[in-house]
Amino acid sequence: MDLFEYQAKELFAKHGVPVTPGAVAFTRAEARSAAEKYGGLVVVKAQVKTGGRGKAGGVKLADSADDAEAKAGEILGLDIKGYVVRRLLITPAADIETEYYVSFLLDRANRTYLAMASVEGGMDIEEVARTKPEALARVPIDALTGVDEAKAREIVAKANFPADVADQVADVLRKLWRVIVEEDATLVEVNPLVKTPGGEILALDGKVTLDENADFRHPDNAVYLVHDEVDPLELAAKEKDLNYVKLDGSVGIIGNGAGLVMSTLDVVAYAGEEFGGVKPANFLDIGGGASAEVMANGLEIILSDPQVKAVFVNVFGGITSCDAVANGIVQAFTMLAERGDAVNLPIVCRLDGNNAAEGRQILDGAEHGVVELVDTMDAAARRVAELAAAK
Ligand SMILES: Nc1ncnc2c1ncn2[C@@H]1O[C@H](COP(=O)(O)OP(=O)(O)OP(=O)(O)O)[C@@H](O)[C@H]1O
Ligand SMILES: [Mg+2]
Repeated sequence: MDLFEYQAKELFAKHGVPVTPGAVAFTRAEARSAAEKYGGLVVVKAQVKTGGRGKAGGVKLADSADDAEAKAGEILGLDIKGYVVRRLLITPAADIETEYYVSFLLDRANRTYLAMASVEGGMDIEEVARTKPEALARVPIDALTGVDEAKAREIVAKANFPADVADQVADVLRKLWRVIVEEDATLVEVNPLVKTPGGEILALDGKVTLDENADFRHPDNAVYLVHDEVDPLELAAKEKDLNYVKLDGSVGIIGNGAGLVMSTLDVVAYAGEEFGGVKPANFLDIGGGASAEVMANGLEIILSDPQVKAVFVNVFGGITSCDAVANGIVQAFTMLAERGDAVNLPIVCRLDGNNAAEGRQILDGAEHGVVELVDTMDAAARRVAELAAAK
């Protein structure tokens, strides 16, 4: 889960990393009163989970509460790389002498962590990385030993931080590493980390990605899930522990196994071209041992998506055999009818693998008018695209 800048900075502050105070504002009036609290000279910052906000006009300096209100008006509603700005961070403007860059991330290719640091931080860091790679130090970090004093000094030396800030930067690096370890983060990035004319080091921006697999260790972090910025169907699916991603098309997809579902998305998109560009409406993997209840929950989420015109249930019987899944589907229909959500969209079903014949027989015998059995994945994809296009 990616955090907003203001949330990242809350975590930084918790671990002792120096940040400027801040207040979140949803309206111009809230921006104004926050600016008043900080004495007027503030930065108004779009809170969206993407980079390059400054360049897109989403970070603006204001010299009074009036000005902060006006700047808030300019930034609220702005579309930054597809993210619409609904919230702002109002934070005192810092005096900046130099902008640095530091980050820790999980380096999957090398099966380790990686520190990156540069004394040429700021909004052009991507450009620096491309044109002057030697200006961006890269230091691998052993996950077991982490960033101790020696490792922090190594990063500081490799990135050529000046002597007058070396101690402070090393200290910040050790604290940021604690965010990685204690918060189970896979990314911590500060750009810019600044030096003020008074020689103080401050994190003026923050990006943190938390590892959702470790959520159970951090019940408090549930506050970071901002309900109004998450797709409501994805949120409902998450509450039911379903692996669901909303997409833009009209064919609802359910399958057992992530790989199978991924390839189902591909074959449906491919078959859909013949019918005017029909596309999948979602990714939904109900997993290997799917019970009737999981099937019912999955169908319920998909059928509550108003964009869905037809559904493709693609099952390969492996550990769970097809007859068990078919029984699950039949029971799911009954459950949904009992919940008042009787299935009335066409459902194309492909069952293959372990006990496929028995599974098909169960679905055939169940006389659910909406289910159509198709033998192969390609033919089923074509049929469901046709049905969705005809609706
Ligand atoms: N509190 C502040 N005081 C003064 N200047 C600031 C402050 N916050 C940000 N800035 C300036 O605005 C620039 C852009 O801000 P910031 O890095 O937070 O957003 P960004 O452009 O979205 O960055 P990224 O692309 O890393 O997400 C900074 O490089 C810095 O020069
Ligand atoms: Mg930045």
